[in-house]
Formats: sequence, C-alpha cells, structure tokens
Amino acid sequence: MGVRLEFDGILVFSLLGLNVLWLAEVCEGGLTSSYVRNDQLSRDMPLDSDVFRVPPGYNAPQQVHITQGDHVGKGVIVSWVTPDEPGSSTVHYWAENTELKRSAKGIVLTYKYFNYTSGYIHHCSIFDLEFDTKYFYEVGIGNTTRKFWFRTPPSVGPDVPYTFGLIGDLGQTHDSNRTLTHYELNPVKGQTLLFVGDLSYADAYPFHDNNRWDTWGRFIERSAAYQPWIWSAGNHEIDFLPDIGEGKPFKPYRNRFYVPYRASRSTSPLWYSIKRASAYIIVLSSYSAYGKYTPQYKWLEKELPKVNRTETPWLIVIMHCPFYSSYIHHYMEGESMRVMYEEWFVEYKVDVVFAGHVHAYERSERISNIAYNIVNGICTPVSDQSAPVYITIGDGGNLEGLVTDMTEPQPRYSAYREASFGHGTFDIKNRSHALFSWHRNQDGYAVEADSLWLHNRIWKPASEESIIAAV
Ligand SMILES: [Fe+2]
Repeated sequence: MGVRLEFDGILVFSLLGLNVLWLAEVCEGGLTSSYVRNDQLSRDMPLDSDVFRVPPGYNAPQQVHITQGDHVGKGVIVSWVTPDEPGSSTVHYWAENTELKRSAKGIVLTYKYFNYTSGYIHHCSIFDLEFDTKYFYEVGIGNTTRKFWFRTPPSVGPDVPYTFGLIGDLGQTHDSNRTLTHYELNPVKGQTLLFVGDLSYADAYPFHDNNRWDTWGRFIERSAAYQPWIWSAGNHEIDFLPDIGEGKPFKPYRNRFYVPYRASRSTSPLWYSIKRASAYIIVLSSYSAYGKYTPQYKWLEKELPKVNRTETPWLIVIMHCPFYSSYIHHYMEGESMRVMYEEWFVEYKVDVVFAGHVHAYERSERISNIAYNIVNGICTPVSDQSAPVYITIGDGGNLEGLVTDMTEPQPRYSAYREASFGHGTFDIKNRSHALFSWHRNQDGYAVEADSLWLHNRIWKPASEESIIAAV
C-alpha cells in the first residue's frame, strides 16, 4: 500500500520502500472563495497618523526609498525628499563589517503640480556594489542624517533562491497599512517587492493634491528604504489634468520614482527590465502606447529574445492592467494589450504575469487565447502549458475599496478568485520550482490563503533529490 502525504500541493507516495514523488500544480478548478470579509469602504489614514510622521530635525530626509539601479543587481537608486532646502544629494554607504565609507553624489529636483510645489527630491545611483552583501547608507547632513540598510541580491544565476513580494493598488488607507504590515511580518520574508502599479491615489483628492504623494512616501519608507521596490505605473500615476494646466502624463510619478530603464536600453522609465538572482523581470506600461511600431512594442520585441533562461530560468512580467480578469469592474480593459502581446508571452514561455488594477485577487490556469484570426471564430481561452499563469494582485487596500461583482459562471480559465485585501509572495527555490502564495490580511501572518507551485517549463527537475531539496 502506498502512503500519501500532502503538504502545500505536493503529493508524496511511498511505495514498497521506493519514494515516488508527484508534484502537482494546485488547480482548484475554478474556485470562487466563500470567505466573508468586511466590505466597508476603506478610509484613508488621517494626515496626523503615526505612519505619516515627519522625521524630526530641520530639513530631515523623508520618503526614503530604494530600487534596483542597474541591470544585474549591483546598483541601487536611493531617493528621498528634503522639505526645506536642497541640502545634500550625496549618499554615504559602507558594507557591513568594513570601515571604508564611500559616497555617491546624486541629483536634486523639484516639480510643480497646479498649486503644489514639491520638496527637494533627491535621486542618487550607487554602482558596483558587491553581490549578496549588507550595506548601510546615510542621507542628510549636519544633525539630521538618517541611516538605513539594504542587502544586495546574490549574483545572477539559475539556482539562486530568491523571494519577491507582490503588492498592487496600495493607497494609504487603514487597509493599506494592514497589507504592508502583513507583508513585513510574513515569515516567507520577501527580499524585494514587485509593485504592480497604482501607488498613492493622490489623484483621488481635489486637483490631485500632491501632498498625498508625500504622505504615501513617508508611509512606505519603513519597507522601501530597506528593500528595493520595483516600480510599474498604473492609471493612478497618469495625473493627466489639462483643465488645470497639467497635460504631461505621469508627472509626479516620473519625478519621484526613478528606475534603471536605460540599463535595458529602454527609452522610457515606464517600461524596462532587470535581472535579479534567478529571475528576469520585465516591467510594462498599460497606459503608454503599445501598438505595433510604438517604442514600447519595439523594445519588447527586442527584449524577449534576449532573455537567457540558462542564466535566469524565471521570466516574470509585471504591469498594471490584467489580460485575464473575471471581475465585472474593469472587465476586458486589458484586452487590446493582450491582443498585441499574449502571443509573445506564450512563445517565450513567460512563467507568470502579475497585474493589479482590479481590487481583488485572482489566479488563472495556464491558458492562452491566441488562435483567433477574425475569420476562424476561435476566441475561447484554451489550456496551454506554454502560457503564463496570470495573477491579479490589485488588492493592496486603497480608498476605492474592493470589487466584489464577478462574472458568472466563473470562467474555466479562472482557477481561484476572492475579493479580499492582501499581498503575494513569489518564492523561487531553484531553477525548476517556485512557490507563489497569496496572503489575506484577515489571516495570521504565516497563513497562505491560496498557493501554487510553479514548475519551470524550461528546466524540468533533474532528479527526485532536487524536488525534495526544493520543498
Ligand atoms: Fe488601477
């Protein structure tokens, strides 16, 4: 008789003393969660909330955040704001257990948005760091310096374990705070956060009150100053308001959040790529032109063939608007971009596409819908093992609240859906296995409300031992 053990979607059979291991992707087969949550509209935290506290001291640096600063993870961009005067744009940094302090000089800028003038926004790139090393860094001058730290990723390579967090549509409500706290206290311990767009929701206020960009910057500092947040832009970053003279899209976002787009030969910070550990991450812009001949299209067309899966087995795409979502709100908004890019995602075996926009959680089966050519009428998603898994993680907890209305019946391509706030983790074990988990805010920090083992389609497990090592 075989003995069956089941843990996290792994089925283990012990048969006549011989261990036979089956790994099955967890496919609930179209489950709409029956979980009952509090549906009250989320309210923004008041301006005097402790999470928005201005650090003490004259002109003290605030809103400190970091992101990857080059293509491979040896660079970091440090950004911060000084409120009263430009001060210094220099970052002092040193590796743990060393005496040698180095410094890098950045730039400072300000911008105006209608009747708002920003503080002094600093961006400083640090290059040529050692891999897998803890660094301390210091910003500010005089009596108001502030010190933080980060850890660089291991050198890029196929079997480097690495854990990404996933948050989208965060805003600055009490629920946003719960989401960030759950991410911080999740024992899985995300090392870098992939942010799928819609950051501050400052545009919900009259004249897109940019003071709410400042409060948001102070809110996320407790995480974003210590680990890179990888940015992608959503519709709430567009800030296009020509009636009040603000006709340049993405103005606050582009001034506040610098990304290393030139390192991947992109011509815009709205789309770019990075390598980090064993992952290749492509960031796309749902609200920039993506049709044929556009800069984003041409960049992606050249970018996908460059991905060396021997070096980075895991190919992840992040963007704001999902291709597949079975919620009624925002239904089919990603359709035209899907028509343009889905075929490439299948051809290049993208492992997983993370998106936000829809304020809920949803995970798809591996499906594609690329057979349609207008005359053949073949326009239903079909099972396709070359296709990505599509995950909507737009449930960060902003002031617009959850979306709860779903198309019925649940489409077969939708594996699991639930309208609750939460965050995700993508835990790469080695070249062949990664565990995605979704964590609902109402649960304990270690609870996985939904999870899926992803098997790399390029790298099959070499042996039973490698599978056991993975789990
Ligand atoms: Fe959105």
